[in-house]
Amino acid sequence: MLCTSITVRFYNETGKLTSLLEKRRNLHRHLTDRQDENARLRAEIERLEPLANLGTLTYMIAHEVNNLLTPLRNYAELAMAHGGDAKLAAKALCKTARNCERAAAVMEGLLGLAEGSRRPAEVVSAVELVDGAFACICRDLSKDGIDVRVHVAPQARVQVAAAQVQQALMNLIINARQAMLPGGGILTVEAVVEGPMTRISVTDTGPGIEPGVMGRIFEPFFSTKGPEGSGLGLAFCKKVVEAHRGNIRVESSPGRGACFTIALPSAGG
Ligand SMILES: Nc1ncnc2c1ncn2[C@@H]1O[C@H](COP(=O)(O)OP(=O)(O)OP(=O)(O)O)[C@@H](O)[C@H]1O
Ligand SMILES: [Mg+2]
Repeated sequence: MLCTSITVRFYNETGKLTSLLEKRRNLHRHLTDRQDENARLRAEIERLEPLANLGTLTYMIAHEVNNLLTPLRNYAELAMAHGGDAKLAAKALCKTARNCERAAAVMEGLLGLAEGSRRPAEVVSAVELVDGAFACICRDLSKDGIDVRVHVAPQARVQVAAAQVQQALMNLIINARQAMLPGGGILTVEAVVEGPMTRISVTDTGPGIEPGVMGRIFEPFFSTKGPEGSGLGLAFCKKVVEAHRGNIRVESSPGRGACFTIALPSAGG
């Protein structure tokens, strides 16, 4: 009797052990399969990532081409509308030609981004970068009720692909202008040297940014402007600034405007 119960127990325990071992083996097989699958998916992501980046970059370049073409069209239309006023027409055409040159330089800078390499960096003053950004916008902001204040330290110099950084600043200025429409406000552009970095900030007195969207504004295609916005301006700025080993920050609270600051390594710093 005792012998039978021991034998039964023995068989039961052995059975349990066998099924435990089987379970363990299954789990191990499952884990190995998952690890293989994981490695395969990672490799796939690595393969597709450059393609996805290229797709976003293509959109960004189209976005910047559009930013450059709008003022060109405005000048050309101005010349056409004032054909009778030879002096004004000539001035508008001169600005159109000058801005075509700028657009060509900017295009070259943008192609540098697409190639994944930066164009040879040049030493350029913050004054030139800020002037270039305003010149590309080709718009008298006072007509929008915007009071422009520029305080740029004359000694502020950075070593950058100038056309790209100028285009990034232009996006910040366009956003600031859009934020202050239709009522107008104050646009302040400042540049200071702080140790090894040069900081260029664009501040507006618009409605500011809701905390709920703050974490998303640099994402490609994120926009709160409906069909008017493609959500590429800030993503472009971030890409350019980071390609120059810099960073971009924003400070804002609802009703109190927004201040975007790009920090770039100072030339020789
Ligand atoms: N100065 C600003 N004031 C308030 N909100 C801003 C400001 N700048 C950016 N934003 C917010 O960040 C979002 C993303 O800006 P971003 O420039 O990337 O795209 P967008 O201006 O919407 O479209 P676009 O591609 O035409 O530039 C905006 O939709 C807006 O919600
Ligand atoms: Mg924008």
